[in-house]
Amino acid sequence: MSKQQGELDLKSLRGRVCVVTGSGNNGIGWGLAVHAGAHLGMHVVLVDLHESVVRQATAQLEARLNEEQPGVRVLGVACDVTDPEQLASCLSQVRAAFPDVPIGAVFANAGVSFNRTIMKSTLAEWQTTLNVNVLGVVNTLKTFVPVLQEQSEESVVCTTASIGGLVRGDGGGSAYQASKHAVVALTESLSFELARRYPQIRVHVLCPCIVSSSLDYNSQVNAAVAAGESLAEDVEQIPLRNRSDLPMTPERHAQQVFDHIADGHFYMITDNVRPYVDHDFPFDGLGIVKERFDNLFNLQLDNSDAMSPGLSGGPSSSILKGPLWQEMARRRRQESD
Ligand SMILES: NC(=O)c1ccc[n+]([C@@H]2O[C@H](COP(=O)([O-])OP(=O)(O)OC[C@H]3O[C@@H](n4cnc5c(N)ncnc54)[C@H](O)[C@@H]3O)[C@@H](O)[C@H]2O)c1
Repeated sequence: MSKQQGELDLKSLRGRVCVVTGSGNNGIGWGLAVHAGAHLGMHVVLVDLHESVVRQATAQLEARLNEEQPGVRVLGVACDVTDPEQLASCLSQVRAAFPDVPIGAVFANAGVSFNRTIMKSTLAEWQTTLNVNVLGVVNTLKTFVPVLQEQSEESVVCTTASIGGLVRGDGGGSAYQASKHAVVALTESLSFELARRYPQIRVHVLCPCIVSSSLDYNSQVNAAVAAGESLAEDVEQIPLRNRSDLPMTPERHAQQVFDHIADGHFYMITDNVRPYVDHDFPFDGLGIVKERFDNLFNLQLDNSDAMSPGLSGGPSSSILKGPLWQEMARRRRQESD
């Protein structure tokens, strides 16, 4: 293991800049931004697609940090990560707002999800998914990693994949999972590219299990804007609704992410486990990853799950079947009795 993956004293990030794409909507990116600002004392750059959403998120974070971390500043940037020119402009805004302040962390986190089988999905859904989830991450890395390479200070660069990027293809989210497998592979590549000459840049891939967010809804809203069916100016940030205690909240999830970063873990599988949730129904991410590798060693795809009904209420799934989904199904049955 290279120096790139040693432990990190998170206190060294204080006063540095933390850039988080896809952080305007109360999901994973928002949790990371809050943690970076409120707990680590980092200046925060919130990046998201729509001006109004970024404005709302910036005002919320400023209000919170004014109380908890006066002196920490927030910059909101409306930027489409699929467009390299908009990311270049984002970097210029970061440099102008924080001259001479090193960038301490970059989270390439923006993403979309259209939960459909290959046969029911549209080509447009595949294009958007691969554009945002894969090329958006590549563009973000190509924009910000050169800045980190110029710096002698330690920094963190983290892509958001998913547990779906490490396990067997699921019956449902075909494009999503294909994109997330790509994010895992390209982040492994980045780690190799930087390890020898730039060990001060710490590379991580985030593979969350289940975190409260409005990912599916936001993806539909953004797709409607892209198709000209609604106006970007009308897009509002929607508040997070915690319908269940089973997913992690974005803030407790962020705690787990930064714990992994401090420990120097490259593959950051953030499972639904204590102390990040208050229950004992894990997703069992690693167990499901292991099944895939057992399959590989046997040169056989075990698709027997396809024969049983899905616990998620949707189609059968190679992923959505661990203790967390069993508990979700049990509660659903209880409600309908
Ligand atoms: N919530 C989960 O359980 C979960 C699990 C695994 C992985 N993920 C991943 O976590 C990341 C964050 O998702 P989330 O669940 O917090 O949902 P979210 O909707 O809060 O975050 C995604 C954000 O990306 C933004 N976005 C979409 N396209 C963009 C573009 N072209 N340019 C800039 N921003 C854009 C959206 O507006 C949204 O704010 C995604 O990459 C997602 O795939 C989420």
